[in-house]
Amino acid sequence: MNEHPFDAFRGKLVVVTGGAGFVGSNIVKRLLEAGAHVKVLDDFYTGSEANLPKHDELEVICGSVVDFDLVRETMKGAEYVIHEAARNIIVSTKNPREDYETNIGGTLNVLLAARELNTPRVVYSSSASVYGNPRHLPINEDESINLLSPYSVSKLGGEGYCKSFYETYGTSTAVVRYSNVYGPGQDPANPYCGVVSKFFEAVLNGDAPRIHGDGEQTRDFTYVDDAVDATLMAAVSVKAEGKIYNVATGREVTINQLARIIIGLAGKDLEPEYVDRRDIDNIRRRVLSIEKIRMELRWTPTFTIERGLKRTYEWILSLTKNES
Ligand SMILES: NC(=O)c1ccc[n+]([C@@H]2O[C@H](COP(=O)([O-])OP(=O)(O)OC[C@H]3O[C@@H](n4cnc5c(N)ncnc54)[C@H](O)[C@@H]3O)[C@@H](O)[C@H]2O)c1
Repeated sequence: MNEHPFDAFRGKLVVVTGGAGFVGSNIVKRLLEAGAHVKVLDDFYTGSEANLPKHDELEVICGSVVDFDLVRETMKGAEYVIHEAARNIIVSTKNPREDYETNIGGTLNVLLAARELNTPRVVYSSSASVYGNPRHLPINEDESINLLSPYSVSKLGGEGYCKSFYETYGTSTAVVRYSNVYGPGQDPANPYCGVVSKFFEAVLNGDAPRIHGDGEQTRDFTYVDDAVDATLMAAVSVKAEGKIYNVATGREVTINQLARIIIGLAGKDLEPEYVDRRDIDNIRRRVLSIEKIRMELRWTPTFTIERGLKRTYEWILSLTKNES
């Protein structure tokens, strides 16, 4: 029988910081399926225990990555640490210091503990926001950095620590730069993919989806199962050590197209409503090259935007059914 790369997790201790959040909880579920013992460290700032299954192999610790002693204690014996904990772009824009403390300070704590404990692999979840408005499309990992928000500064700071701990101390790190992850489990308040659930929410209520700006801004939307697989490939792959990978689809989608697909899925006769752009929407176009991760980690996205949105729509419908 052919082995699956995630068989490597069987019987191993994996720590997922921010594991009660959107992407983190989906990672936890995949790890449990693969037979790992999983510890979640989360302060429930945006995450929720309701996102996590009840499972004998899952331990949930309520606390902050800002607390070094707790981070070190949690990481003892871990073979892999998947570092997802972060204050998001909205929190960061309102309060850059809070962002700094978690996103930079918390990442430094994870790496200091990994260095001390000789953790075999830390995977850090960064963001395509570090590219800002890029000069070239699709954006590859060597594109120049263009920081347009305090959040992108802190996510890049975490990347820099990962790279420098690898170069200086030999700590085994890998970085994944996610682009707009969406899918089942997403919270409408989650700013990265909130647009997807907000459009669904509006359309299901028979309201027009509200678009900030002219709707011609673009994003590269990544289905959450694909982001999970890419992250876990970066954990198990020897080649990923010390590297940075884009995690996206390579397809550029306008917000107008997104609204049309969602209106179509719900079978409604609606037109979007256009309102002022927000201060966090200062990136006009985004589409990422995924050649590096495809070649080196043999990861490729399996969900088109149409299929991913259909799955998300089915999940939203199942929630509404359970409520009634
Ligand atoms: N979702 C996306 O599209 C996207 C895009 C780019 C990067 N990212 C990165 O991916 C990671 C996960 O994002 P998400 O969408 O799941 O967000 P999320 O807000 O759902 O998850 C973040 C989790 O971290 C926890 N957390 C926050 N501060 C913490 C602290 N100090 N200590 C411990 N836990 C803390 C939150 O409670 C939450 O459970 C983040 O690092 C984010 O920067 C996400």
